[in-house]
Amino acid sequence: MQRLNVALIGQGFMGRAHSNAWGQVAKFFKVPVRPVMHTVFGQETENPQAFAENWGWQHASTDWRSVVNSPEIDLVDLATPNFMHAEPALAAIAAGKPCVTEKPIAATLDEARTMAEAAKKAGVKTFVWFNYRRCPAVALAHRLVGEGKLGDIRHVRATYLQDWADESIPLAWRFEKQWAGSGAHGDLNAHLVDMTRFVTGQEITEVAGAIAETFIKKRKRMTAAADEGDVTVDDTVLFLARFAGGAVASFEAARQATGNQNACGFEINGTKGTLKFNFERMNELQYYDATLPRAVQGWTTIMCTHGADHPYVGNWWPDAHLIGYEHGFVNEAYDICRVLAGEPPVVPIPDFADAYQTQRVLEAALVSAAERRPVAIDEIK
Ligand SMILES: NC(=O)c1ccc[n+]([C@@H]2O[C@H](COP(=O)([O-])OP(=O)(O)OC[C@H]3O[C@@H](n4cnc5c(N)ncnc54)[C@H](O)[C@@H]3O)[C@@H](O)[C@H]2O)c1
Repeated sequence: MQRLNVALIGQGFMGRAHSNAWGQVAKFFKVPVRPVMHTVFGQETENPQAFAENWGWQHASTDWRSVVNSPEIDLVDLATPNFMHAEPALAAIAAGKPCVTEKPIAATLDEARTMAEAAKKAGVKTFVWFNYRRCPAVALAHRLVGEGKLGDIRHVRATYLQDWADESIPLAWRFEKQWAGSGAHGDLNAHLVDMTRFVTGQEITEVAGAIAETFIKKRKRMTAAADEGDVTVDDTVLFLARFAGGAVASFEAARQATGNQNACGFEINGTKGTLKFNFERMNELQYYDATLPRAVQGWTTIMCTHGADHPYVGNWWPDAHLIGYEHGFVNEAYDICRVLAGEPPVVPIPDFADAYQTQRVLEAALVSAAERRPVAIDEIK
């Protein structure tokens, strides 16, 4: 079987999630190409050699440029902070190599456009780790909407609520615009915009009424001195939107929504039914079938663990044995292997061009918040 030498750039939270995915995928899925965990890049202070040994990478490096350009590498996987997606991605594309990056695709819209255009020009395959698309419940929602189960979609309500960012959290890269681009917005709304575009199969055409707020304006720097620095990104961004098919929508991303730990979800109301998802109960999809006789209408909790009927899960455990966060990444690694082998993914996988559309919506919300006006997505290039 053809081998695929993977290079992973970054060894933090996502570096661990991706390492797990590349290590698991061929064990659970019949992959058309076999990923080889070739080289991991980390900064010198992180001890990449120890990371490589722990996770099963064959080599470790502290020089990402030589890794990306090595003739031994077939796929470049980026798990670095947002400001460090564009440069290595463009280097991979220039070397003619497929590239998968974490979300948001980039820290700025300009970088995202440049990446999408470069990939198109070079004819290189690209991917983005929008892992929530690959939760079986979300993939099922996509399929049910495609089958017309909801009828005409009228409302999309999407929230991604977390509560980890209190005053005790130091000034990590996530709180500075130069590294992150934005705060909860690029971190969490990026997932919501991607997920709702995916489930509805529709584009967002306009954004209005956006509000951005930073509640904690200074945080302790992550240096020995531990003096305070300015937070230059949002803690929360809310906005309204319109979808091409006529639905109206609301989005909310928050890092201080006390009591919500990783509540990433949506409710989509159509003329024939409703679907509801919350990642905190990720194996379940809530369905309300409004075509049933009124006497028996009510909420159905679908446990999305039936291998014969639900996307991806047939490759995991016997029916009704739950899966978790990490499985979305393994499912995505499988689809990347499929696409690289010329096969269709189980459900559509976003490339740089697709993620650029998500980034345009995020940018429109920032413009709407700054200028206090509705913004058509067509305005955002
Ligand atoms: N898909 C998801 O669910 C999800 C979840 C969390 C984070 N993310 C995304 O993943 C990316 C990485 O986030 P994370 O949480 O893994 O971050 P992290 O801080 O845990 O890890 C970042 C890695 O990048 C390296 N790095 C940082 N600055 C660098 C520099 N200047 N030069 C070279 N290397 C550098 C760090 O050493 C570390 O190995 C971000 O784009 C983030 O938005 C996605």
